[in-house]
Amino acid sequence: MKNEMKWWQKTILYECYPKSFLDTRAQGTGTLRGIIEKLPYLESLGVGALWLTPIYKSPMVDNGYDVEDYYQIDPVYGSMIDMDELIAEGKKHGIRIVMDLVFNHTSDQCAWFKESKTSRDNPKSNWYVWADPKEDGSAPTNWRSIFGGSAWKWCEERKQYYLHTFAEAQPDLNWESPELRKALYDVANFWVDKGVGGFRIDAISYIKKPSVFTDGEPDGQDGLAALNGLVNNMDGILDFLNEFKKEVCEGKDIFTVGETNGISHDMLKDWVGDDGVFDMLIEYTHISPEFKQNENWCEPQEWKLSDLKKMLSASQNVINDFGWYPIYFENHDKPRCVDHYFEENADKVLTAKLIGTMLMTLRGTPFIYQGQEIGMSNVSWPDISCYNDISSLEQYKTAINSGYSKEDALKGIHRFSRDNARTPMQWSSDRNAGFTDGEPWLSVNENYLTINVDKEENDPSSVLNYYRKLNQLRNEYPCLISGSYKSSNDEDDQTYAYERHYEDQIIRIILNFTGQELVYEDIPEGSKILLCSYPDHHKGILQPYEALIIKID
Ligand code: BGC
Repeated sequence: MKNEMKWWQKTILYECYPKSFLDTRAQGTGTLRGIIEKLPYLESLGVGALWLTPIYKSPMVDNGYDVEDYYQIDPVYGSMIDMDELIAEGKKHGIRIVMDLVFNHTSDQCAWFKESKTSRDNPKSNWYVWADPKEDGSAPTNWRSIFGGSAWKWCEERKQYYLHTFAEAQPDLNWESPELRKALYDVANFWVDKGVGGFRIDAISYIKKPSVFTDGEPDGQDGLAALNGLVNNMDGILDFLNEFKKEVCEGKDIFTVGETNGISHDMLKDWVGDDGVFDMLIEYTHISPEFKQNENWCEPQEWKLSDLKKMLSASQNVINDFGWYPIYFENHDKPRCVDHYFEENADKVLTAKLIGTMLMTLRGTPFIYQGQEIGMSNVSWPDISCYNDISSLEQYKTAINSGYSKEDALKGIHRFSRDNARTPMQWSSDRNAGFTDGEPWLSVNENYLTINVDKEENDPSSVLNYYRKLNQLRNEYPCLISGSYKSSNDEDDQTYAYERHYEDQIIRIILNFTGQELVYEDIPEGSKILLCSYPDHHKGILQPYEALIIKID
């Protein structure tokens, strides 16, 4: 614990979804210049690393996670000149840019794929995962892609199927090809040479495919079997990733964070730390306790606060001793936390502060998702046609095909759609929340008149200013960065209390997850209140959704 912390362990990372951040061209989508303009804002939050979801040239079927050319900036965002400026200006503000490496798949419009599909013997013929049909001409296996439907798509030109773990337009790359792997390392090194500070590495646990393709046990009325469990973290994946580490990361001033669904705590030694392949892994368990990954996805699964706390404590306890995780409660794939973890009528300001408190005081690097720092919330649009997200559209279809009514399927979309997190950033009370002077690519949340940056800048009790206070505390008390984690009440379903311990310092965090006043007398005499989400803490009581940080002497 007393090891020297690395810069990316001490800083705060901000996840930016560039398409929805700030438009400087009245085109309806965000631009790199918009991000440059807001660097001082990000600096004021204590941000030292800025993860951009993919900004490479892309047909945008999956909003950039379908890369057409890893060496070009998509023209909607700007140019490579803007990108170079963003990297350089970022450094002046103490902010390193973190690129999203999408290396499990490309777009079907990528030149590599266009060449690969032309024949079975062209130089890139084995850069993607191709397979012959079954004897009856059907797909090689019954795997269901993560976005729904078969994971295989027929290609007439090659008379073979290709695999797509996600959408049809996202063919999977074949990491078995040494030439392909070299091409990917060249891409990453191109960005390292440009001076980026690190990489978030997308869907990386899916890159190794089984050597023989066999059907899985069908788990739905469509007769398909979810691919997630069948093509994830396969034996041999670490050989690829160790090679990636050697070719791209070793000896460079960068950090890596892998999106590795399904890597459990007992596997951590191979995945992070000096002998592991990455610096951090995105931990999954706590982020959607109520989401079912099957056909019944739109019926939320019951969960209790104690479940969430046990999930958090499990990963916190692991990294007390070894490894490191990002702390996050939102990202571009998940609903807004104020709607996600609380009942519908819960106070949005207090709950945003409560989650912010956890985010900034658990052990790990806080990842703030754009808009979370002002308490942005979900949308409930009246019809599926209002939605853009490819996975929501597919999930909606799956629900309707499995017999759910339109109303029920839409209720699920309201709760789970990735578009909840993708609505434009709310900068001001101006038209389109100050995001664009054009027509926004996705509707602005209509609550922007009450929730926006301008308004919150001028309100000392706003969520935004509360985040700034949390950042100040992190800077003031090394315990909040380096301290070990100790939970005291994992079984309790109303409050979450935990401590951080460092040298002779103990800081306790107490969170009331309910909308009721609760008796709480466990505050030792002489403790100092460092921060409270209310103007005052009332002795012996926790007010509804109160968050409290105290220093125990
Ligand atoms: C990203 C998603 C994306 C998917 C396919 C992920 O896990 O976070 O937004 O749709 O990978 O690239």
